[in-house]
Amino acid sequence: MRSSAVPQKAVILVGGEGTRLRPLTNGIPKPMMPVLNRPFLEHTIAYLRQCGIDFTILALSYLPEVIQAHFGDGSKLGVQLAYAVEHSPLGTAGAVKNAERYLDSTFVVLNGDIFTNLDLADMFAFHRRKGAKATIALTYVDNPCAFGVVETDDVGRVRRFVEKPKPDQVPSNWINAGIYILEPETLEHVPADRHYMFENGLFPLLLELGEPVYGYRFRGYWLDMGTPEKYLCLNCDLLSLKEKSALISGLSKDGIYCDGDVTIHPSAQIVGPAIIASRCQIGRKVHIKGPVVMGPGCSIADEASLEEVVLWRGVNIGAGAILKQCVIGDEAEVEARAQLINRVLPPRLS
Ligand code: GDD
Ligand code: MG
Repeated sequence: MRSSAVPQKAVILVGGEGTRLRPLTNGIPKPMMPVLNRPFLEHTIAYLRQCGIDFTILALSYLPEVIQAHFGDGSKLGVQLAYAVEHSPLGTAGAVKNAERYLDSTFVVLNGDIFTNLDLADMFAFHRRKGAKATIALTYVDNPCAFGVVETDDVGRVRRFVEKPKPDQVPSNWINAGIYILEPETLEHVPADRHYMFENGLFPLLLELGEPVYGYRFRGYWLDMGTPEKYLCLNCDLLSLKEKSALISGLSKDGIYCDGDVTIHPSAQIVGPAIIASRCQIGRKVHIKGPVVMGPGCSIADEASLEEVVLWRGVNIGAGAILKQCVIGDEAEVEARAQLINRVLPPRLS
């Protein structure tokens, strides 16, 4: 029997409140944040599907009911979804252990806040070639201090992990990209129903046991959307075609995409790329300079100006307000003539 080009199943880790994204994520799980007006997690599931994986397990610890209600059995996205829900957060490895009943062959694990175009088939071929029990994708970043640094030898075998190193203790710029290929037997080392992490638990343990753990270096697009800056950056990169989402097709350079029932005053000036969702209203002499994403039902009053901005649904921007590099949550109000540069406004909770 020929082995397949990619593992058959993937687990996506969906936990934590996304503390660095607060207050934006008050009340919504980080992976449900809209990216080009679609929940982030839809992009991830579409990516896996494009790679050839159409069975995904969502390992959930934070607001699981919101995610289950949205995704159901996955059929709307053309995939099969299963859920492994934690009663209390089990940590990254504990969450996968909690999904063990689904994992009977080599599988992929993905942090739920990663956007990437990593070639999973190539990583899987590397994993097989090396005879690895665990392969960790590694990406190069300029500042590794917010990540887990992974040291490897000449042939890619992992020597050491340094999670979130201090600036004067950075051994390498290659970091754990939050994407793993694992053999199911590695989960035998993970305690059940207890908080346990890959980063400072299972991976260092596998090294101690002399198990083959490898680092797979790749240079493609990679972003952890866990800060407001990175979240905005992801929206802008996708809209200006620096990177492509498997979920969204038909974007063109500097395009302006309006849903049918938007109202735009003839004197408004819009320079793409911009997405303007249904029921948006754009007033007289409004100035929009993309990349800009507007969720459904936003209202931009006269002479306001927006540049590099993501608005969620139902946002009201007052007359003459100026917004640059901002993320504005659901139903938020921006006062007339306010000047917001590099700001985040949380959703107004109903
Ligand atoms: N289900 C579940 N349960 N998921 C969890 C839990 C949990 O208890 N704890 C964390 N997660 C999920 C988060 O929701 C996220 O999708 C992923 O695990 C990683 O957690 P983060 O909180 O985003 O970690 P980080 O970004 O600081 O660091 C991790 O990712 C970096 C790459 O972005 C580490 O894996 C680093 O080593 C890595 O470099
Ligand atoms: Mg993260």
